[in-house]
Amino acid sequence: MPDPLPPTPDPASPSRHALWRNWISLTGVIIGGGSLFAFLFLFAIDLFSGSHNPYIGILSYVVAPAFLIFGLVVFVVGAWIQHRQLKRYPDAPPARLYIDFERPHDRKVMIYFGAGAMAFLLLTAMGSYQTYHVTESVEFCGQVCHKVMKPEFVTYQRGVHARVACVECHIGSGAKWYVKSKLSGSYQLYSVAFNKYSRPIGTPVHNLRPAQDTCEKCHWPEKYTGNLDRTYAHYLADEASTPHTVRMLLHIGGGSDLHGPVGGIHWHTSAANKVEYFASDPQRQRIPWVRVTSFQGKTTVYRSPDYQDEPPADQIRRMDCIDCHNRPAHRYQTPNAAVDQALELGRLDAKLPAIKRQAVELLTSTYASENEAIAKITASLREEYAGRPGLDQAVTTTSEIYRANFFPEMKADWSKYPDNKGHKDFPGCFRCHDNQHEAVGDPSRMIAASDCTTCHSIVTQGKGEELANFSLKGLSFQHPGGDIPDGVICNDCHNGKNQ
Ligand code: HEC
Ligand code: HEC
Ligand code: HEC
Ligand code: HEC
Ligand code: HEC
Ligand code: HEC
Repeated sequence: MPDPLPPTPDPASPSRHALWRNWISLTGVIIGGGSLFAFLFLFAIDLFSGSHNPYIGILSYVVAPAFLIFGLVVFVVGAWIQHRQLKRYPDAPPARLYIDFERPHDRKVMIYFGAGAMAFLLLTAMGSYQTYHVTESVEFCGQVCHKVMKPEFVTYQRGVHARVACVECHIGSGAKWYVKSKLSGSYQLYSVAFNKYSRPIGTPVHNLRPAQDTCEKCHWPEKYTGNLDRTYAHYLADEASTPHTVRMLLHIGGGSDLHGPVGGIHWHTSAANKVEYFASDPQRQRIPWVRVTSFQGKTTVYRSPDYQDEPPADQIRRMDCIDCHNRPAHRYQTPNAAVDQALELGRLDAKLPAIKRQAVELLTSTYASENEAIAKITASLREEYAGRPGLDQAVTTTSEIYRANFFPEMKADWSKYPDNKGHKDFPGCFRCHDNQHEAVGDPSRMIAASDCTTCHSIVTQGKGEELANFSLKGLSFQHPGGDIPDGVICNDCHNGKNQ
């Protein structure tokens, strides 16, 4: 037999609070309280954990508030139902929440409710902590935004900065950029959810934080490097895939006279100079205007002959590390360079006839998906080199190159992401060093380029025995493609494919 109804409270004084005293609203309060708790908890982890997890933002600023709003809605719905009840039966005693601990029924319900609420809060805490861990994991990125960020992620994992967290370069420290990134993170979430992102993801990142606040937290701009010895091993697109190697000293120099002479390639970012430029295209591949301010405050403007305007002040950019090192983490090898490297490392057998040309051609065909590409590359190689030793390895290696550098689903590959560090396959240094940029008021002065040795000296080149001829004075470049016509630059012919 149920307990008798609770005594009716004085109907003359129905308080407004009565509206929310019902089980539905109370459940709303618990859900809302739980999510508020989860938000504060995640916020604290985010603030104090030291490890910066970009996805924590999604949890703390999107998921937790969504639950909070849901709790509020439940709360209001409960109150509204209560309100309707009151209106419909104004004389009836309101079915309000009335708890009397004297009654065993109420005690039992309260114990269940209390235990349920505690369990809910506990699970929320555990759940949010677990979710935090999951989002930090590689698998999360692999599953949640795998499709969209796959190109950036795969290239990142193969780069020298694979152990540097995304946020170290993309956000850096300090509250202002943190908030900015949370805002743009929410937009990204929206664009992924509604399929609004561009394929490929655009480059450059126009609102990227200046390198002074990111790269230079680890790298010291004053460092004196002097010469860097680099070997570029190439193979021609002929039947024998003939090797052609260029070994050179890159004159990196340094940016502070405390450690060595200021000059060389790193001169641009020395604290004493300010190099600014204006790019006439969003990809920053055409640079018709450059201004140098020396440490005495003297300015020199260089302009290419087809540009006589003054650039808009808000589009002048100060040159920093990223203007040359724009692919420190996400480098898409050109098919030409990737196949050359595989040949050099013995992962492709140069004895397979014309393997350089074949592999590059297969890699640069158009495919709708990665699976289709791998299937077609495999089938073509098996047909071309049937029965030859080195065939299985060629299949494996070429497929690996494809997977690491081509992302047809996102339309991402080397051709969409120019590398500004050199000048062979992209304009790079020659965007300014092209013998065209004249100093305003002194046409005889140009941005140094006339001489290849401004930037590097070739110490040896060719193949086999030829590489024993060494010169520290610097050799003039023997171009395997024949004489280079005047006024033509390397990337007029070389585009990362078979040249
Ligand atoms: C060593 C620094 C560094 C790290 C670490 C890094 N990035 Fe980048 N990222 C860059 C730079 C530099 C650019 C290109 C900037 C430019 O040209 O404006 C870039 C560009 C991007 C772009 C735009 C598309 C493109 O390739 O230009 C995306 C998206 C991106 N990064 C995502 C990520 C993700 C996700 C991670 C972590 C898995 C990550 N980045 C780690 C430096 C870094
Ligand atoms: C968290 C620290 C950190 C940040 C931030 C960072 N780097 Fe590095 N970077 C390193 C380390 C460590 C290495 C050396 C890796 C090695 O040799 O194993 C390195 C290597 C390099 C190299 C030499 C690569 C090579 O092929 O030898 C370049 C160039 C470079 N970083 C540029 C950048 C640029 C540009 C940025 C900013 C977009 C940047 N780094 C941000 C830590 C960092
Ligand atoms: C007029 C077109 C043209 C121009 C300009 C040109 N090249 Fe080449 N280059 C070729 C051809 C053709 C080959 C031979 C390709 C082959 O057989 O693989 C070649 C081969 C090469 C190779 C060896 C093979 C390879 O795939 O890398 C290198 C290195 C090279 N060129 C560097 C340069 C550099 C550096 C410049 C600018 C200073 C330049 N080239 C300008 C047409 C050109
Ligand atoms: C004018 C273009 C340019 C600018 C600006 C530039 N670099 Fe470099 N840097 C190069 C080139 C070219 C190399 C050598 C080629 C390579 O890395 O493959 C190099 C090499 C390096 C290396 C490897 C050699 C070493 O000293 O260990 C590091 C690290 C580096 N740069 C960091 C930076 C940082 C940090 C900045 C910004 C303060 C910067 N660079 C600005 C062009 C540039
Ligand atoms: C935005 C334009 C711009 C780009 C891009 C650029 N440079 Fe420069 N560079 C300059 C200017 C301007 C000077 C100074 C010219 C002068 O006053 O003589 C210069 C000077 C130099 C010098 C001579 C420094 C000295 O010792 O006095 C070297 C070496 C050099 N650059 C290498 C490079 C390399 C390598 C790259 C590509 C990785 C590159 N530059 C890209 C604008 C540029
Ligand atoms: C403004 C500086 C600069 C000038 C001038 C310059 N180079 Fe280079 N060059 C570079 C840099 C930087 C690299 C290294 C690129 C890299 O590591 O990715 C390079 C690389 C090369 C390579 C090897 C490229 C490869 O992938 O095999 C060749 C060959 C070369 N340069 C030839 C020349 C010749 C020939 C000239 C004169 C016509 C010249 N360079 C003028 C900066 C310059």
